[in-house]
Amino acid sequence: MHDWKPSSWQKKTAAQQPLYDNHDEIGNVVDELSERPPLVTSWEVERLKSQLAIAASGKAFLLQGGDCSESFQACRADPIAKKLKVLLQMSLVLVYGMNKPVIRVGRIAGQYAKPRSSDNETRDGVTLPSYRGDCVNRIPFTTEDRKNRPELLLEAYSRSAQTLNYLRALAEGGFADIHHPENWELDFVTQSKKSQQYHQLVAGISDSLRFVETIGGVASGDLSRVDFYTSHEALLLPYEQALTRQSISGSGWYNLGTHYPWIGDRTRAIDGAHIEYFRGIENPIGLKVGPTASATELIDLIRILNPQRQAGRLTLICRFGAHRIKDCLPHLIEAVQKDHHPVLWSIDPMHGNTMTTDSGFKTRHFDQILSEVRDSFSIHQQQGSVVGGIHLELTGNDVTECIGGTGGLQSADLKRAYESTVDPRLNYEQAMEIAFLIAGQAREPN
Ligand code: PEP
Ligand code: CO
Repeated sequence: MHDWKPSSWQKKTAAQQPLYDNHDEIGNVVDELSERPPLVTSWEVERLKSQLAIAASGKAFLLQGGDCSESFQACRADPIAKKLKVLLQMSLVLVYGMNKPVIRVGRIAGQYAKPRSSDNETRDGVTLPSYRGDCVNRIPFTTEDRKNRPELLLEAYSRSAQTLNYLRALAEGGFADIHHPENWELDFVTQSKKSQQYHQLVAGISDSLRFVETIGGVASGDLSRVDFYTSHEALLLPYEQALTRQSISGSGWYNLGTHYPWIGDRTRAIDGAHIEYFRGIENPIGLKVGPTASATELIDLIRILNPQRQAGRLTLICRFGAHRIKDCLPHLIEAVQKDHHPVLWSIDPMHGNTMTTDSGFKTRHFDQILSEVRDSFSIHQQQGSVVGGIHLELTGNDVTECIGGTGGLQSADLKRAYESTVDPRLNYEQAMEIAFLIAGQAREPN
């Protein structure tokens, strides 16, 4: 691609970028970041792309989840391990129920920047820059905290590296060994319905494993580790540019700050800087698709982002909302089928279902989340298409941020353990309920 380079986005309009007071400072930070080692390699990125190609054809399933926004404060052993535990437990349910491999991807090790509806926030007559994530500024509403600071990008890089280092060790070592699912237990989970259902399933899997290994006389060695990949919204283009590198083997540019970057619903303008940046990188990429996307717009975007029609390259992460999915999804599927694009269709049942309670909590109702998941499966099935993945905001912490689910959380419970500074996440129980729903859905006859 000779008309592209990692910085060519700079000629276009870049939405959702923080304004920095000092141009030299941000320039120096980008120069410094460009010299740091990459966080992932092009071989890993290509391996993920080939696995996603299988998911696009319906023979594997993508499980992508994590915080709406990671905080620097959560770069600690416990929350990282807990998030991995939930994803490992969910993936076991999905593998068993769907009878296909599951690709595990965290919204993690770089999910530090957030799009906002306005550059500024006003409280009691005082106007300050909006909080845009820990890699830009800080939450408290003071001039000092809300100042956009380029050096926080260096901190984001370091925390991403530390998080990824721990995740890699957990995924490769004994922790992820399927023979020891007790490693994935969460201490606060006691007698929940979903955890009982999960434990029955685990007991069944352990029995089958013992049987196969006894009869075969060998241990299933590959089952002692898992592949685990990272993803984040590639929002702050100076940061993403700095981590974009030519592959060591010399063919093409890769974003090596993450395996699987995605484009947000607010930054997918066809002539905008984000699309310009993404079209040139070799990674598998996600595109958030919300209710305002028309079929023609979507097809134009797909043609720009995946002109070679490479399977595994492009994931459409649909986030319409329970009330809008039936109006929005069918004609988009039809348009993609007509134009023969090998996309992976994933469901984000979170971002179209956000609301604010009377007491001011941003929340999501679990029934609406489930309803969007169910409708998505049935619409795809009716149109001869496949759902290849799910994209969730979830945490391994014992939070009360979304309402409903078998735990029966009510709006009055939200204040008990509401930790998110941006969007509300599913807790363990709610996340497992979705995994069981999808596993069950997959077993239903056509
Ligand atoms: C997100 O994934 O946190 C997000 C902001 O999503 P969207 O771009 O779909 O609104
Ligand atoms: Co979010």
